[in-house]
Amino acid sequence: MRFDIFSVFPSYLNSLRLSLVGKATEGGSIDIQVHDLRDWTEDRHRTVDDTPVGGGAGMVMRADIWGKALDTAFDADLGTDSPRRVLAIPTPAGYPLTQEICVDLAERCDQIVIACGRYEGIDARVASHYEKLEGVEVFEFSLGDYVLNGGEVAALALVEAVARLVPGVIGNPESLVEESHGSAGLLEYPSYTRPLDWRGESVPAILTSGDHGRVARWQRDEALRKTALRRPDMIAALEAADLDRRDRAALGQHGWYWPKKAEIGMHPFKPVAEIPTNTDAAGDYSELAARTFPDACPKGMSDADIQAFIAKNLSVEAFQNYISSEGWVLVGVRDHDGCLIAYSLCLVPEGDGAAGADEGAPVDAELADGPRIGPLVEMSKFYLDRPWRGSGLAGLLMTATLQELASATRSWERPYVWLGTNRGNSRAQALYTKLGFEPVGSRSFLVGEQNNEDIVMARTLDVTY
Ligand code: ADE
Repeated sequence: MRFDIFSVFPSYLNSLRLSLVGKATEGGSIDIQVHDLRDWTEDRHRTVDDTPVGGGAGMVMRADIWGKALDTAFDADLGTDSPRRVLAIPTPAGYPLTQEICVDLAERCDQIVIACGRYEGIDARVASHYEKLEGVEVFEFSLGDYVLNGGEVAALALVEAVARLVPGVIGNPESLVEESHGSAGLLEYPSYTRPLDWRGESVPAILTSGDHGRVARWQRDEALRKTALRRPDMIAALEAADLDRRDRAALGQHGWYWPKKAEIGMHPFKPVAEIPTNTDAAGDYSELAARTFPDACPKGMSDADIQAFIAKNLSVEAFQNYISSEGWVLVGVRDHDGCLIAYSLCLVPEGDGAAGADEGAPVDAELADGPRIGPLVEMSKFYLDRPWRGSGLAGLLMTATLQELASATRSWERPYVWLGTNRGNSRAQALYTKLGFEPVGSRSFLVGEQNNEDIVMARTLDVTY
């Protein structure tokens, strides 16, 4: 791989003689030629710039000087037939430089010619001229959303980022896989070395456990955590189908979800819960509620009874009422297309909650942290659309619901929320247990003509968020 770098400050690039890149040059895996652009000037002052045509601030670098300089680099014999040459022009107006581009350049390029501009940049005809030249690709690139005084720092960055990927330059190519922006698409997990204790800070114990499987999982969780925090754009670009069950748990903690069975091309996304205030949303809620309610009914229940229940309690009109009436707390979650995928519906009794608790409420039950529970909020509905069951989204919906209920019952002394779930629905019971509920009693629940035995579960709302 040959690099030709043109600059009016060639000594700026002396650091390329150091470190790994310097060694790679000495070893012959790369060849770096630095040129002084002023060598192609013909006037006494060695002028490389002129005022902008059409007016404007600053000076622009002249196309004729650049043309003469760059031609010499592109005329160089690289010893291969039809070599792939790239003219890289650093500019804050360029395409963002990424690891993916660096990998491509390192793997498939024979020569990178870097034109370091200064002042207001290089006459735009230079880029368009070389774009038309056969065998040359032009790549105007930016290091980031900030402005440097010239392209030299960006040239150093490009050479170092590409050179280390050229086969033979780095001793252990495996280290390239795990690093930030590597093939995993994540930022790298934190690294530690001896001493194991330093200024009261110790190395995470798991790293000295010798359990390679757990260490690998910890490192991946840390990479996911760091990436979710610092680079949500990278999480959003992950292929959901490539993420496993443990990744799901780790990313769920940071608010990222995807359906249980992710299709190819689907990415994680960060849903936010909504509290609908406009009755226009009632249609969406009614549709989801009608679709999901039958899934929670016991096997023997008749379709007519289920439909009668839906018509009475889950119609558009019913949801218009839930949205507009005091006392009902409706929370929803939508997917990235705005489609409603989960909802909860709770009934908060008026006053301090002591009176008006629903008939089925287990007022005499005991919870682990206290004898009698109450006042009571009823969690009447808590449903996820089918593709989202097992996605972890229940945690998000429950957190949002409890937050809303906690603020609705702030003046209560010891608020609790309870729900009834069919005795046979052990999946739901396991979920509610995970979400902090405990069984406190039972109740009868009438759907149409049929009486159902429900387990009643409850949890405190007395939590701080
Ligand atoms: N020249 C000036 N600013 C630059 C940037 N942000 N990236 C690349 N080249 C530049």
